[in-house]
Amino acid sequence: MTESRLDYIVEAGGSIKGRFRVPGDKSISHRAVMLGALADGETQVSGLLEGEDVLATLGAFRAMGVQAEGPVNGALQIRGLGLRGMRAPEVAIDCGNSGTSMRLLAGILAGQPFSSILQGDASLHRRPMGRVIRPLEQMGARIESAEGGRPPLHIQGNPRLQGIHYELPVASAQVKSAVLLAGLFAEGETSVTEPAPTRDHTERMLQGFGYAVRREETTITLRGGGNLHGTRVQVPSDISSAAFFMVGALISPDADLVLEDVGVNPTRTGVIEILTRMGGRIDLLNLREVGGEPVADIHIRSSRLTGICIPEKLVPLAIDEFPAIFVAAACATGRTVLTGAHELRVKESDRIAVMATGLQALGVAAEATEDGMIIDGGLIQGGSVDSHGDHRIAMSFAMAGLVAKGPIHIRDCRNVATSFPGFPDLARAAGLGLRLEEGA
Ligand code: S3P
Repeated sequence: MTESRLDYIVEAGGSIKGRFRVPGDKSISHRAVMLGALADGETQVSGLLEGEDVLATLGAFRAMGVQAEGPVNGALQIRGLGLRGMRAPEVAIDCGNSGTSMRLLAGILAGQPFSSILQGDASLHRRPMGRVIRPLEQMGARIESAEGGRPPLHIQGNPRLQGIHYELPVASAQVKSAVLLAGLFAEGETSVTEPAPTRDHTERMLQGFGYAVRREETTITLRGGGNLHGTRVQVPSDISSAAFFMVGALISPDADLVLEDVGVNPTRTGVIEILTRMGGRIDLLNLREVGGEPVADIHIRSSRLTGICIPEKLVPLAIDEFPAIFVAAACATGRTVLTGAHELRVKESDRIAVMATGLQALGVAAEATEDGMIIDGGLIQGGSVDSHGDHRIAMSFAMAGLVAKGPIHIRDCRNVATSFPGFPDLARAAGLGLRLEEGA
């Protein structure tokens, strides 16, 4: 059954206020489920994101025999089967909208003594998987895909993978993680060199599960054949979900917001650095470490923003936050220029094209370039935009409503549930005039 379309209608005006917690970090939640499933013994997760993407990952492991209780209010107990304990899934594994599920699972399935199929929704089937197929085949798995390295993936696992050294051609935490996870099942050492730092949750969490991982400059190395030990994982709030409210508070008048328990891993805080450089008043309070990840409360107040040239080195550190940053740029004085962000074209949608088209529909001078965007800040008009089923684009345009001159109609918002269940309620409580409309 195909569900009807869900649209957001956002009233013009409002201000973001309050003190609350956004849901758990998506990247960390995926990894907690995966490593918990592959560990010996029990793993207790708290703060898990109960979004559709993470539930897809959990469903995949249940289909391979892993037992888990929950999630209930973010609490999940996983009885791990150890690295060699899973059985073949009886049907194809459905990753839904989730690139992280598909790419990281591909790494794990590459090392299994059985074959499996990974598939997903229409958006996921447009995304490039050659980037994981190539290294995993070098390690000894066989992976067939649709044309152009697109899903579905038919993976013939190989329990005797060979460790490799792999130089990542793109700065991608998903590819890095796929290779490292396959390395758990490989003979000898597996190492990955990254062209620029990317989120390091896999490396941190492997260590949390008692697995030795070495980082020397830009290279991460592990040796296959060890064991993961079940543990407790406390998932912080997702800075990528916090980003929408950060931007909402910066651009709206009289805003004063504290977002609690947000993960501020330095491989994820590009959004804070960029918005601060634009003049955003953002303070990190109560900085602490929780379960191997840095966490803080973030205080944000209304600010006069100015356009900047975004340094390319910050791009991988803010890769998921550009839709929200573009909205901030549209509200800034002067020009914001982003370059070196071609990867945005292969996310849940082509985020360069879709954001440029949406901003233009709202009267903003936004020009898409091959690898980024040029935005001249100014007034945001009311109007109609299409999120193309991309959760982050839907939530970014919702925040634009705070300063728009008329209501904004955002089409195709159902996928917000992939990463941010409860967004409409939380947004309303924070001060956004948002209602839902079932589309045709
Ligand atoms: C993720 C890595 C990033 C990011 C995605 C989550 C992860 O993707 O965009 O939302 O959890 O490893 P890439 O590795 O493709 O940059």
